Amino acid sequence: MGSNQLRERIVRMFLQHEGEVISGEQLRLKLGVSRTAVWKHIKQLRAQGYAIEAVPSRGYRLDTRPDVLLPIVIKAGLNTAIIAKSIECHVELDSTNLRAHTLAEQGAPEGSVVVAECQTSGRGRMGRSWSSPPGVNVYTSVVLRPILALSEATQLTFLAAVAVARAIEKVCDVRVSVKWPNDILLNGKKIAGLLNELTAETEGIHYVVLGIGVNLNMEESQFPPDLRYPATSVLLETGQRVDRVAFIRTLFTELDALYVLLLERGFAPIRLAWEALFDLVGSAVSVDDGGVGVSVSGVVIGIAADGALLLDTGSAHPRTIYSGDVRPATLA
Ligand code: BTN
Repeated sequence: MGSNQLRERIVRMFLQHEGEVISGEQLRLKLGVSRTAVWKHIKQLRAQGYAIEAVPSRGYRLDTRPDVLLPIVIKAGLNTAIIAKSIECHVELDSTNLRAHTLAEQGAPEGSVVVAECQTSGRGRMGRSWSSPPGVNVYTSVVLRPILALSEATQLTFLAAVAVARAIEKVCDVRVSVKWPNDILLNGKKIAGLLNELTAETEGIHYVVLGIGVNLNMEESQFPPDLRYPATSVLLETGQRVDRVAFIRTLFTELDALYVLLLERGFAPIRLAWEALFDLVGSAVSVDDGGVGVSVSGVVIGIAADGALLLDTGSAHPRTIYSGDVRPATLA
């Protein structure tokens, strides 16, 4: 076994026995190495940010771990049915969505996830880029293979928005809202975005990549200057740093629960959960298609059974909108 694998096993043992002291002898026997080798690896783990306390005549205890996104760390304490059964973590990627597409094409099972500490070409909706500095946020993509008609694929966007909103609320103790169809707002500013991409075959969806970016510990100076919509991070709004490992575990748990719910009970409960987070009903907005430059203004009535946005534009019938970028009239 190589040194990296040995250290991974030590970390796994500590994470499986959180807060407990593990004796040098237990570690030695489990790993099949000398006590001196155990000590050497403990020292190296300390240098990587693991606060491992030597408890006299008893052994070692892990007090705190670094906030790095590694499969073994994320998996410890994660109990999901479908999502994140397989986790791939990268220090740097062009885009987690691109990597997830490659994995999906190679036959990766449903629920496989890709995580990156930073992205060099993070992708946003409508051909925009997604600012992805290292070590501060969450950038992840999930491969799904739902048995849904092509027209039902947008259900997954609503599902992901609810999962992200719930994870932020639970871990960061703040209230968030959603902006149709797939932005998450904190204090009216964008805190997370979703880029869901699908590959279809004649008989329906082949696979979907759910791309999720959440601004957790990003500083003011790390935002690009030319944002179309005001953006923020949990740190900027609350002054509190978020434990990214705890966050991503909660995110995968929420995604898992909602995906199982969708498979068992259909879209209706997901839609209700999303509507409870949608506070633009009755507000004047403009929706632009992000491409051709056509913009529609009106008052939000709500969403239709299939998730389309319903706008009162002053004509006899509500206008049904299937895609676009919503801005409150005050920002338009
Ligand atoms: C948006 O424009 O609001 C969508 C942003 C989506 C960003 C995420 S970060 C992880 C995944 N990989 C990407 O390249 N994009 C998505």
